[in-house]
Amino acid sequence: MASLLSSTLLSLALLLIVSSSEAKDFLVGGDTEAWKIPSSKSETLNRWAEAHRFQVGDSLVWKYDGTKDSVLEVRREDYLSCNTSSPIAEHKDGNTTVSLPRSGPYYFISGAAGACEKGEKMIVVVMSKRQRWSGGISPAPSPVEYDGPAMAPVSGGRKLAVRIKGGLVGALTLMGLVGMIL
Ligand SMILES: *[C@@H]1O[C@H](CO)[C@@H](O)[C@H](O)[C@H]1NC(C)=O
Ligand SMILES: *[C@@H]1O[C@H](CO)[C@@H](O)[C@H](O)[C@H]1NC(C)=O
Repeated sequence: MASLLSSTLLSLALLLIVSSSEAKDFLVGGDTEAWKIPSSKSETLNRWAEAHRFQVGDSLVWKYDGTKDSVLEVRREDYLSCNTSSPIAEHKDGNTTVSLPRSGPYYFISGAAGACEKGEKMIVVVMSKRQRWSGGISPAPSPVEYDGPAMAPVSGGRKLAVRIKGGLVGALTLMGLVGMIL
């Protein structure tokens, strides 16, 4: 019985570690053709970004025609004014991976002439590790503060709820086991 208990504990611990530490690659816009001028106000890349939870260690991946477009990581002011003249980083290989090593906002605009002004731009707000653990419970960084997309606690919250539910079931199972032993 004791060995069953410890193996249950071990697998629970492993499950927790595996489910919380995997870094994700996000294909920007969810599509290889997504880095472009949005076709409508409701289909912006910020809409896409709002619907996802980015965490420290995750990466963004862009697929686009490198002969016609590029991805510029810029400062907030340059994002707001679509100023392409002094980016933090410029990518034009058509297959760009940007890792997200810190929490907070990241600003991206298109380097194609006039594209940023027409909405080809995106803010990604990365959650810190602490925010990850408290998940949907603590309020996300204020969108006003970043002038960026409103956060969507819905998807993260749901995931957290599932995780909590899983934890509860595990805890109840454990309590049952302990009860059987005593
Ligand atoms: C764009 O940024 C550069 C460097 O920060 C600055 O010199 C320039 O005046 C800016 N252009 C506009 C149109 O704001
Ligand atoms: C894009 O880059 C990734 C890793 O950087 C690589 O695995 C993949 O094969 C590349 N895809 C294309 C189409 O070049």
